[in-house]
Amino acid sequence: MAARSSYPQGRNPLRSLQVAAGVAVLAVGCGDGSPPDTEGAPIGRRPTGVSVPAEVTKGAHPARRCGECHAAIHQTWAASAHANADRSPIYRAMRRASGRDDCDRCHAPLRAWVPGDERLAAEGVTCDVCHTLRDVRPDRHDAALELDLTSAVRYGPRCDAEDHYFHRMGCSPLFSRSELCGGCHQRNAHTSEAVEFGHDGPAAVADVTCQSCHMPGVLGEVAVGWSAGTTVSDHGMYGPGDELRARAIELRLRVVPEDRRLRVELEVTNADAGHSLPSGLPGRRIVVRVAGIGADGAAIAGDEWIYAKILVDGSGVEVPFHVAQRVQSDTCLAPGEVRHERSWLPRDGVVEVRAEVLEHALSATIAKAVGVSMPEPVQLTSARAEVPPP
Ligand code: HEC
Ligand code: HEC
Ligand code: HEC
Ligand code: HEC
Ligand code: HEC
Repeated sequence: MAARSSYPQGRNPLRSLQVAAGVAVLAVGCGDGSPPDTEGAPIGRRPTGVSVPAEVTKGAHPARRCGECHAAIHQTWAASAHANADRSPIYRAMRRASGRDDCDRCHAPLRAWVPGDERLAAEGVTCDVCHTLRDVRPDRHDAALELDLTSAVRYGPRCDAEDHYFHRMGCSPLFSRSELCGGCHQRNAHTSEAVEFGHDGPAAVADVTCQSCHMPGVLGEVAVGWSAGTTVSDHGMYGPGDELRARAIELRLRVVPEDRRLRVELEVTNADAGHSLPSGLPGRRIVVRVAGIGADGAAIAGDEWIYAKILVDGSGVEVPFHVAQRVQSDTCLAPGEVRHERSWLPRDGVVEVRAEVLEHALSATIAKAVGVSMPEPVQLTSARAEVPPP
């Protein structure tokens, strides 16, 4: 076994201060599109022409198996986007529409490694994708995720874990670094043949690791009946109860009566994301909305603003990334950015002004283009202000 380090169990308190070296190659934000790699680095793809040794298939396990001992982690992972990476209806629809299969290298990396085990491959970004990772080289053109599926070693962050009959322990500093996530969350994840998305500066990622925000330590046992009272990293990716979403945006609302109108001032801050919002797949939307509410509770008037990265075809129509010709606009909120919005609503009959920030997984235009129904938006935050009678 590797020499023991002084890693404490669970979360390293220094981690949140740690500079995420190499983060410049990652891209979760809108504003950081460097020229895409249109060939697409074959991430997680086994080099072609190499046959799969039998022990590879034997070495990989379904998440359910890991869950027999890591019950709590399995439960949070199973509800995460990672567990759905090969199954999400939006993804299936877009994959079909694109006619491409290179999506697997991030959405279902095991499909290349365990041919014939479709059930395991369909688990998407499963335990044995991340915990067999020996190395990640996001900028390399050959297999950028180097998986070790032949040994019984499961790699993880802690160096004080003990081997047991089911797997041996391989501690790796990669698990505490953003590069692990960057193996898939990179700026050239979603490209088209034609587009050179403009390069507008370095990746807008703060100098903290992805894990320090997305995988907070929560009290619990690493494995059933094993070291209770320690912390385990949350695998849901938005923290317990999706707390990360609630922290993402700060909203301030000010309403100033002006004669027969109400001047509505909003301050929208990307308070707690290490990257632009929205981020990732183009087509996502943050919608900021205000409404003047009457005495009966119904909206009398309103206004809205949209923050998004919008990709278009040759004639300026918004299209899915795989057929995009250019970036038409990018109004995503950079980390820490404060956006001031202003609107005027009629004063007559309005007793209250409400504001909210919603997140849409997809724009209506793109949903229609790929033939899925619009997913329900998620409310990130809201605010209200009473209007004094004139
Ligand atoms: C038979 C029970 C059992 C099964 C099944 C099991 N594990 Fe574990 N695993 C443990 C125990 C116990 C520990 C903690 C050992 C310690 O803390 O000393 C552990 C620790 C780990 C760690 C932490 C290692 C580190 O360095 O931080 C990882 C990662 C891990 N397991 C992944 C997996 C994966 C992936 C699977 C499924 C392929 C799996 N385990 C299946 C019992 C199990
Ligand atoms: C093997 C590739 C891979 C790795 C490694 C990976 N991810 Fe992901 N991640 C994905 C894919 C693919 C999705 C999209 C799943 C879906 O919704 O279809 C995703 C989704 C997510 C989401 C949810 C996005 C949303 O739209 O709600 C978050 C948050 C996330 N990942 C964070 C992380 C973090 C943090 C790490 C590192 C600890 C990480 N990921 C490592 C492939 C990966
Ligand atoms: C997207 C990659 C990814 C996936 C998928 C994933 N893990 Fe992890 N896991 C990590 C990272 C990164 C850490 C270390 C997090 C940190 O530094 O706090 C970790 C930590 C752990 C640990 C060590 C204990 C701890 O919390 O520190 C165990 C055990 C573990 N994972 C088991 C699992 C099991 C079981 C599954 C599947 C049900 C799974 N993981 C799926 C990335 C992943
Ligand atoms: C400072 C904290 C912080 C750091 C660091 C951070 N994130 Fe996030 N991330 C957030 C918050 C907060 C959200 C929730 C935003 C939402 O739901 O709109 C988020 C959302 C996401 C999403 C979903 C995107 C969307 O628009 O819905 C992905 C994917 C993601 N993060 C990946 C990453 C990766 C990969 C890293 C590391 C390179 C990382 N994040 C670093 C806080 C952080
Ligand atoms: C380099 C890795 C990578 C490749 C290749 C890739 N994706 Fe993704 N995909 C991601 C990650 C990471 C996310 C989650 C964060 C985000 O939104 O970017 C994601 C998210 C998505 C989502 C949003 C899922 C949801 O449920 O909301 C769709 C749709 C999608 N990808 C489609 C595709 C299609 C279609 C392809 C192939 C043409 C593809 N992706 C290729 C990494 C990749």
